[in-house]
Amino acid sequence: MTVRVRVVILGCTGSIGRQALDVASRHADRIEVVGLAAHTSAEQVVEQAHAFNVQRIVLSDSDAAGRARDLGGDRLMVGSGPEAVAELAELPEAEVVLNALVGAAGLRATLTALAAGKTLALANKESLVAGGELVTALATESNLVPVDSEHSAIYQCLVGEERADVERIWLTASGGPFRGRSAADMANVTVEEALAHPTWNMGPKISIDSATLANKGLEVIEAHHLFGVDYDRIRVLVHPQSIVHSMVEFADASVKAHLGTTDMRIPIQYAFSRPRRWDAPVAALDFAQVARLDFGDPDVDAFPALSLAFAAGKAGGTMPAVMNAANEVAVAAFLSRRAGFADIPRTIESVMAAHDAEPLGSLEQVEAADTWARARAEEVLSSR
Ligand SMILES: NC(=O)c1ccc[n+]([C@@H]2O[C@H](COP(=O)([O-])OP(=O)(O)OC[C@H]3O[C@@H](n4cnc5c(N)ncnc54)[C@H](OP(=O)(O)O)[C@@H]3O)[C@@H](O)[C@H]2O)c1
Repeated sequence: MTVRVRVVILGCTGSIGRQALDVASRHADRIEVVGLAAHTSAEQVVEQAHAFNVQRIVLSDSDAAGRARDLGGDRLMVGSGPEAVAELAELPEAEVVLNALVGAAGLRATLTALAAGKTLALANKESLVAGGELVTALATESNLVPVDSEHSAIYQCLVGEERADVERIWLTASGGPFRGRSAADMANVTVEEALAHPTWNMGPKISIDSATLANKGLEVIEAHHLFGVDYDRIRVLVHPQSIVHSMVEFADASVKAHLGTTDMRIPIQYAFSRPRRWDAPVAALDFAQVARLDFGDPDVDAFPALSLAFAAGKAGGTMPAVMNAANEVAVAAFLSRRAGFADIPRTIESVMAAHDAEPLGSLEQVEAADTWARARAEEVLSSR
């Protein structure tokens, strides 16, 4: 008889969360969902809880939690507030926690899950960016499994390899919807244009991050922490087809690449199935139909957010948390049409320039840097 792995899904109503539930329904004999959390989408979480027979849910927004209590009936236990989200991450009956929250708000749950001895399937890259050293202090190669497609690819390329033999990581990037355009050319792009990602269908924040290449910058910092590779040995490579999900180069100049269909359910599923592999949710690639694979350097003049993230990572300490928070504020302002596309890197740069990085010691310190950076970013945006 197959033993079912018991899973908590944080961010269950988002792009990753819903795809994770799709994986769980395809593999109901292998996955049991035991907890669900989201922010305000009470109705959807209650519906998911009923569909997957889940008894514990959390809404971080208290009004939404009230609505969920009214809708859920007596058998559904409904927690409320960010503390309850973190408590769900240490639910005794769960073995795996999928953190698919968006933003640095996910850091507390990441640390809680690892400290409680759970296996953490991590989509929430911002928690590694903001609190990298704190996360890696609790992580091992087996309890932290990346869900981001590039990092899942690298993780899989490293199976059976010695980390000391890794020479370089080649992190691929689609280039986003504005690949090939100059900064001047992008000055007046609309939210709709920026959200229209050419190869991946994702939540709004990561879609804008992909358009500015801030997402690739966050992923560089994520890769540095996950795989212990210096920034000078991480190369970003624009690959518009998104078929090569990333590559690892070794000391003997051999390169291993991970290729596949662009469907996030594949890396999500691998985080649950590893080291085994389960039936695919989509057709595999037909290489006879893949006409070509293109690669090139990113245009760092047109997409300064990438260089800013490299600089934040190299500065270390509190700087990546500051870079990330400034980006979150600027992206929210762009999405609500309070700022233009070029204001995003401009805000990040200005906030980083005003910050002196300190070595990272605690979650409270990350939260203080994050709060400071958010306030500063709002000032920068309102003084445009
Ligand atoms: N989407 C992708 O294909 C993809 C690929 C690689 C990595 N990632 C990463 O995965 C993470 C999730 O991305 P996504 O695209 O799935 O985001 P999304 O579609 O915006 O979903 C975010 C989820 O988090 C919940 N949430 C947001 N803020 C919260 C808070 N403060 N407390 C509790 N729950 C909160 C949302 O709940 P409500 O619905 O109630 O607001 C929703 O369930 C991000 O870190 C992203 O970078 C995503």
